[in-house]
Amino acid sequence: MIVLFLLFLISLGIYPFTSSSSLDCSNCVGSGQVWCVEQSQCNSSFVSCSTKISLQLNCPTKPKVPYDEHFARTQMLALASASHNANPQLCLDNQIPTMKLYKVRTVNCSTDYPDVACYGYTAYDVTQKAIVISYRGSHGPNQNNQILEGMTRDGLHSYFGKGTGKIFKVIYDSFMLLWNDRINQDLRYLKYKYPDFELWLNGHSLGGALSYTTASYLTTVGLYKPENMKIIVLAPTKIGDYDFAAWYSSTFSYSFHIIHRLDLIPRVPAIDPHTNTTVMFQPRTEIWYNNYMRLNDTYQICEEADGDYCSDAVTEGLNMNDHGFYFDINISNWGKDGCPKNTTGYAQP
Ligand SMILES: *[C@@H]1O[C@H](CO)[C@@H](O)[C@H](O)[C@H]1NC(C)=O
Ligand SMILES: *[C@@H]1O[C@H](CO)[C@@H](O)[C@H](O)[C@H]1NC(C)=O
Ligand SMILES: *[C@@H]1O[C@H](CO)[C@@H](O)[C@H](O)[C@H]1NC(C)=O
Ligand SMILES: *[C@@H]1O[C@H](CO)[C@@H](O)[C@H](O)[C@H]1NC(C)=O
Ligand SMILES: *[C@@H]1O[C@H](CO)[C@@H](O)[C@H](O)[C@H]1NC(C)=O
Ligand SMILES: *[C@@H]1O[C@H](CO)[C@@H](O)[C@H](O)[C@H]1NC(C)=O
Repeated sequence: MIVLFLLFLISLGIYPFTSSSSLDCSNCVGSGQVWCVEQSQCNSSFVSCSTKISLQLNCPTKPKVPYDEHFARTQMLALASASHNANPQLCLDNQIPTMKLYKVRTVNCSTDYPDVACYGYTAYDVTQKAIVISYRGSHGPNQNNQILEGMTRDGLHSYFGKGTGKIFKVIYDSFMLLWNDRINQDLRYLKYKYPDFELWLNGHSLGGALSYTTASYLTTVGLYKPENMKIIVLAPTKIGDYDFAAWYSSTFSYSFHIIHRLDLIPRVPAIDPHTNTTVMFQPRTEIWYNNYMRLNDTYQICEEADGDYCSDAVTEGLNMNDHGFYFDINISNWGKDGCPKNTTGYAQP
């Protein structure tokens, strides 16, 4: 009799042995309810709760691999800035002397503007046992326009197989142009020569978006395994829908995107401008510096992926000035000058 009663309850969706407050976040939002982080409780709604979760993607999770801020500050910043120099080796010599440039690749990546190019380079470091692909960020108003117009005109498409979501065609196409303009051959050569090296993917702004795309592509075609990649990008735009962010987040343990204070770019586009309906998401893991990013400044490791949390909790005063400065250095200007050791002149005013 009791057994029948329990079965009856279960058939109604009532689980007598699990009160709703003992559900975890994932099961809670999976059942259509809301999870309150501070109270560790599940409910249909909360009267007072400051961090509410309603998407599985955002259930609090610590990154599987720790964020290495020294690595980001000393290696990834210089690698990203180096892409603003026609000869990235100048930056490498000044900042990462063991790192050697392999090839620079530049392609015309716009049919609409005469002065829009996409730029990436490969490098390798036999001391740190790493191969690098780094991409330059957007280099002017026409490239920004071209990207935004491409997002609006072409929208999102599926590239990486079933269940991997969709990303902007204009971002994928820009990556593919560089890939076919021999980053493909360059990487295969370096991988053949240094098969056991890690692959570091890197870039600022558009360069970060291209790194997300590269990691996804390499995994899909089986050229690199996610566990052999380190992805640290600065200020990437959002490139994908919910399913992409969920797939990417579960695939790449070592992927961090760094957001400086009120930088507008990594917070946009909020929705796909082609349809005005699909909500866009950053994948895991956001690192947010709500300061100048000077040495010893604090940062937040965001346990939610992308919602009204961490950097997205702030919506007022977003700007482009914070986009240009990471770790208190003017990324493009420092790179153009060859990343000199004395960084005093590149600090944010
Ligand atoms: C849970 O939801 C019910 C019904 O909406 C509400 O009355 C109650 O106050 C909520 N509990 C909390 C802790 O917010
Ligand atoms: C890039 O290609 C477009 C046509 O596809 C052309 O109009 C433009 O001039 C080219 N830009 C450069 C820098 O060659
Ligand atoms: C999306 O919104 C923008 C700005 O409001 C508008 O110009 C555009 O036509 C809209 N596009 C679609 C597909 O609804
Ligand atoms: C940062 O912290 C280290 C170790 O605590 C200290 O030696 C250094 O002086 C600090 N630097 C700055 C600029 O605050
Ligand atoms: C970086 O420096 C360049 C050259 O001085 C300047 O044009 C640019 O505005 C600076 N970036 C920002 C975000 O201030
Ligand atoms: C570093 O550069 C600043 C100005 O850019 C200059 O005033 C200062 O003397 C330089 N410091 C050293 C140690 O060269």
